Amino acid sequence: MLKKPPGIEDIFPDAMEKWDHVTGTARDVFRTYNYKELIIPVMEYTEVFARGLGDETDIVSKEMFTFEDRGGRSLTLRPEGTASVVRAYVENGEYNRLASCKLFYCGPMFRAERPQKGRLRQFNQFGAEFFGSENPYHDAEVIGMMDAISRRLALAPYAVLVNSIGCPDCRVPYTEALKSFYTSHSARLCEDCARRLEKNPLRLLDCKNESCRALRAEAPVITAFICGACRDHHDRVKGHLSQAGVSFTEDPFLVRGLDYYTRTTFEFVTERLGGQNAFAAGGRYDGLVEQFGGKKTPAVGFAAGIERILLMLGDQRAPERRLDVYIVHSGGDALALAARTAAALRERGIAADLDPDAGGFKSQFKKADRERARLCVIVGEDELREGTRSIKDMGSGEQASVPADAAADRIGAMLKGSASLP
Ligand code: HAM
Repeated sequence: MLKKPPGIEDIFPDAMEKWDHVTGTARDVFRTYNYKELIIPVMEYTEVFARGLGDETDIVSKEMFTFEDRGGRSLTLRPEGTASVVRAYVENGEYNRLASCKLFYCGPMFRAERPQKGRLRQFNQFGAEFFGSENPYHDAEVIGMMDAISRRLALAPYAVLVNSIGCPDCRVPYTEALKSFYTSHSARLCEDCARRLEKNPLRLLDCKNESCRALRAEAPVITAFICGACRDHHDRVKGHLSQAGVSFTEDPFLVRGLDYYTRTTFEFVTERLGGQNAFAAGGRYDGLVEQFGGKKTPAVGFAAGIERILLMLGDQRAPERRLDVYIVHSGGDALALAARTAAALRERGIAADLDPDAGGFKSQFKKADRERARLCVIVGEDELREGTRSIKDMGSGEQASVPADAAADRIGAMLKGSASLP
């Protein structure tokens, strides 16, 4: 038997109901905030992520699926969406000329992490990116948008952690302070952190190693180093969040494991996920568009892990998805009429199914039950003879016979709730 690689999952139709509920809710909320969907490629030149996310990040240094194409160019399966969206935005003259731009995406990401509950090698995100303003209103709007999705999906209890990691200017004294703190405790650092200390001391704050985590509690906090403009920005983000009724907690160590962030960083966390406690996260990245060759364009966004949200929903049922109509027939000539009925229903946008190899009526009704069909249409010997169709309401058990050519309209009206049996 052939098997799938570790950390990669198949998603079967029974799981799709909840999946569609999650992504459909996100799409609905994105639409109400005027975000428009884009589809970004699953792979990019490696440089997009190496430059965008930072060489010293865990993702770039050890988690990317990178390979050479036939021409010897290095390609990488996208580990996240932001760098790709920025690359696409900069490359697309029409969009990057707009004063501002609201985009969202949904799809698989790839990270060679050690698989465990809530941590996959192929996982799915929905995410949103706003381009064009450094107004703190937008930071709060993006956080509020994920909060709205979380509330609609009833994900509570969860917490929204927020922080500001300042701009490149105020980060200079902060990284110096971190460097000197960690240098004086270098014996307690893991191998990776000992290496990263010189080049990128900020990354030590998000190391998952136990000893480094313990050390972090004593490390200097960004709050003491942040410049006036960044402090004002952060205060205004918090003000907008309060006005919008979004509860949040400040976490001065929330630096996020990606180099592109400036100022605001945030995470949606829950204890219900165990070790992998973040189900959505994001922040501001005012320098990335310019770094990718575009004109200076401030930006802010977030992404959420769909599988983690599904874990949080647990056994909670998604709104039931039912088949509209199952067609029960007696074979032979009745099969041709059953197929014609199915085609007429589908033309009207009604979902219909039948089994050409059907056995007796009893086993066909069983199949209808399994598909949770709302209605059954029966095409048997009586209906053939009389030029009728029998419609059975699977909820009430009521059944009535209607002229064959009126059946599809009647069914359409019944499904809309504007007609009933008999
Ligand atoms: P991230 O924190 O790396 O941020 O990922 C966002 C979310 O994706 C996480 O909170 C988590 O729910 C989910 N996730 C990440 N890795 C895995 C995994 N291995 N298995 C399952 N779920 C996972 C970003 O990706 C940024 N691009 C977010 C962003 C958008 N920042 C600004 N704009």
